[in-house]
Amino acid sequence: MCGIVGYVGAGQAVDFLIHGLHRLEYRGYDSAGVAVIGQDGQIHVVKTAGRIAALEELLAKQPLTGRIGIGHTRWATHGPATDANAHPHLGGNGAVAVVHNGVIENYESLRARLEAEGYRFRSATDTEAIAHLIAEAVRTATGNGKGPAPLDELIQAVQAALAQLQGTYGLAMLFRDWPDLILAARRGSPLIIGVGQKEHFVSSDPSSLIGYTDKIVALADHELAVLTADGVRVVHRDHGHINPSVQVLDWSAAEVSRGGYPHYMLKEIFEQPESIRNTMRGRLDWDEATARFGGLNLSPQELRRVRRIVFTGCGTSWHAGLVGEYLIETLARLPVEVEYASELRYRNPPLENDTLLFAITQSGETADTLAALREMKRKGLPTLAICNVVGSSIAAEADGGVYLHAGPEIGVASTKAYTCQCTVLVLLALYFGRLRHLGFDDGLRILEHLQQLPDRVSDALQTSPQVREIAEKYASSEHFLYLGRHFNFPTALEGALKMKEISYIHAEGYPAAEMKHGPIALVDRQTPSVFLMPQGAVYDKVLSNLQEIKARGGPVIAVVCRGDRKAAQLADDVIEIPAVPEFLQPIVSVVPLQLLAYYTAVARGCDVDKPRNLAKSVTVE
Ligand code: AGP
Ligand code: GLU
Repeated sequence: MCGIVGYVGAGQAVDFLIHGLHRLEYRGYDSAGVAVIGQDGQIHVVKTAGRIAALEELLAKQPLTGRIGIGHTRWATHGPATDANAHPHLGGNGAVAVVHNGVIENYESLRARLEAEGYRFRSATDTEAIAHLIAEAVRTATGNGKGPAPLDELIQAVQAALAQLQGTYGLAMLFRDWPDLILAARRGSPLIIGVGQKEHFVSSDPSSLIGYTDKIVALADHELAVLTADGVRVVHRDHGHINPSVQVLDWSAAEVSRGGYPHYMLKEIFEQPESIRNTMRGRLDWDEATARFGGLNLSPQELRRVRRIVFTGCGTSWHAGLVGEYLIETLARLPVEVEYASELRYRNPPLENDTLLFAITQSGETADTLAALREMKRKGLPTLAICNVVGSSIAAEADGGVYLHAGPEIGVASTKAYTCQCTVLVLLALYFGRLRHLGFDDGLRILEHLQQLPDRVSDALQTSPQVREIAEKYASSEHFLYLGRHFNFPTALEGALKMKEISYIHAEGYPAAEMKHGPIALVDRQTPSVFLMPQGAVYDKVLSNLQEIKARGGPVIAVVCRGDRKAAQLADDVIEIPAVPEFLQPIVSVVPLQLLAYYTAVARGCDVDKPRNLAKSVTVE
């Protein structure tokens, strides 16, 4: 998920490593570290939680010299952001150093086995299991320490170790006994090799190579690269040695900050297919037709006894809770309440023993959500967190939970965290449903739709150029209304929040039928209404609500399923999204609303990533 760099050549490795890590900073990270093979032939590691500047300060005090090294910016998925959990990780008492992007799903069983064999773990990461596993494989292949084996044996040993991993990885590795080479391997997490003059580079992102080389080799899944100063060899798991095709990178330095996107928010909007895939990874249980969670810390029997669920959170996370209410009530037939955390903490509601509390939070640090969680714990309720930041206060204090694995979200306006929260909530609804009345076939059908969800979100992103035109058309409006019903009511609230946060336009979200009870008085020719009306049980009702607005002269932007002629005839502007079952509509229909807010804010010259008066993480009451 975060950043990998590596260097082998005639220069000082640390120089490139630090430069490369800085180039990857835009991706967000919580720790940084480097490993270099020194003149003494040992692997030396310097790493720290916090910024790259802190790593540089450490390196100023204890310089690392050497012509081969690897570096990493971590964004924690397993274990909090501490010095010990920062990468690189050493395996087998310093025989191997590893940096890793991604998630290893079977690390617990690997760790248990390796610990039983005497490997001592120094971190809480999944990555350290890889380091020891590789060390073990290499040790066995080389006849238990009888000196370095031929390169082919090293490659085979590493491939055998990688074959034991489930999950995703981009990896760069150093070996004490092969001090002239870096191995790089990938499965599901990108890695690029940079080809220079008597020097080679590896990076998870081409942006760090700019200024060093424009010749790159993009590794594919199941490929392993051997980098030395003089050359690169690529070996595929199934096809053996292959001829790497060298491409020319034509990025300029200016284009690379934020990965080529003008704002983090836009980058994060476009990351959603990938982040949703990461949220679902390892959690679709096809054998049992349900969802699988590692960290709920409650048995199926205990979960089956739950009779009421309370979701709490703030802002966008509270909107995800509303989506959760529709999902759990529809798919699992369990009563749900959604509470603003700032209210729940003081409201002292009567709560029965069989109530389960979920705190929903991207950052895991929101003061009101933390206080609400603590209050519910004090009352003896089991508490779970749906959280993005590993090791954050809320993740640490909850009894268990589900991480989003959405990757770092830097834009103040939450986008990918929201769709990943909603994805987790679909998985939870499926899980609770399967514990109760949903049959095996129902479960399978939901899994099939979930599997296609990232592609449907990609389709919805195709609306971007058209949404941009619509945004420019209405950018001078002073008010916006967002209207939807049923599953799309929370989407209306979220669309309105996005618009106010970053464009400073006054926007309100309502259930469409509520308009006639008051807000319709606001409708005039200058106030656009955004209607969320993909096909579903309430489609005809929403169509009538749309006509009520048109009859009063209000311009209408309709978000509809592709090919919806009825809405197209009535609305002033139409945004077509792909059809998905109703329970997935919130995740798809919010995408054009994120884009609408974004392009409107850009058209009005607002600071999209750092809107006025707002903070990414609200750690005060
Ligand atoms: C979302 O765009 C907002 N910036 C804000 O409403 C946010 O969702 C809220 O502050 C909660 O944050 P959390 O998810 O980190 O707890
Ligand atoms: N899963 C690893 C960890 O938590 C790697 C995270 C990353 O991609 O930065 O350390």
